[in-house]
Amino acid sequence: MQVIEKIEEMQALAKRLCVSEGAVALVPTMGSLHEGHLSLIKTARERAQHVVVSIFVNPKQFGPNEDFGTYPREPEHDLDLCREAGVDVVFMPDSEDFYPKDYSTYITEETISKLMCGISRPQHFRGVTTVVGKLFNLVRPDFAVFGQKDAQQVAIIRKMVRELHFGVEIVVCETVREEDGLAKSSRNKYLSKVQRSEAAVIPQSLQTAREMVESGTRITDRVIAEVTHILGSKRRIRIIYVTMTDPDTMEPMREIVPGKTLLALAVWVDEVRLIDNILV
Ligand code: PAJ
Repeated sequence: MQVIEKIEEMQALAKRLCVSEGAVALVPTMGSLHEGHLSLIKTARERAQHVVVSIFVNPKQFGPNEDFGTYPREPEHDLDLCREAGVDVVFMPDSEDFYPKDYSTYITEETISKLMCGISRPQHFRGVTTVVGKLFNLVRPDFAVFGQKDAQQVAIIRKMVRELHFGVEIVVCETVREEDGLAKSSRNKYLSKVQRSEAAVIPQSLQTAREMVESGTRITDRVIAEVTHILGSKRRIRIIYVTMTDPDTMEPMREIVPGKTLLALAVWVDEVRLIDNILV
């Protein structure tokens, strides 16, 4: 496994991979890898001869009062996991090389980015599209693999790829969950025992929503009210949003179209921000 830190080195390797046999898949991550990330790597491995994983805690996608400083960083653990998973190349650029002091070029998607998480994190998706666009240019992958856990991120990246003609095929993997259903996340590390046990109500609320739809409920407001009620039963949980939307545009829906309606939510568990979603 090759570990690359220098931008020029990544560019030189990408050029060689482009003309070599076989497809290149990129899995962009911020590290602190868990089984969610590993499922993306496995999918990349199945699709492409060359698997590149990027590990970069992207400062541009964190707001001024967010957790950039405390975001978990465990490079040695990540490299071990990548080695075991059969990754060919890990790209871990230095933040100052990636964004020099006078850096001023951004990619902004201006519709989907303003909804849902974009309301409480107004610069977040600009940071995501910028870093992903830069990684696409540096790695030149045929495929890029993302998790459905970040459904809004997927919708925005798909739109960016289409509108800026990146020519990268976006592959999306199911959300990997803990035994009690909580979506795996690097941020779960922040949760105390009590917070962790209250967080279990998140997947429970999604499951209840699924059952309501299965038994015929079609009015989104009814489902949203029930999910809000369930989440509200926990002292430490504060809702940022609960919404039912079109999974491509993230526009709110009034009526549920079974199999084609996304239920997405963001909550605070005390000071820890968690998101989750399911297609119902
Ligand atoms: P990060 O949170 O590290 O996630 C990297 C990828 O792993 C994303 O595509 C995310 O959706 C996926 N992922 C996270 N948890 C998952 C789970 N439980 N099941 C399945 N997939 C999961 O998302 C980012 O980093 C960044 O925004 C990034 C795209 C790397 C840009 O900086």
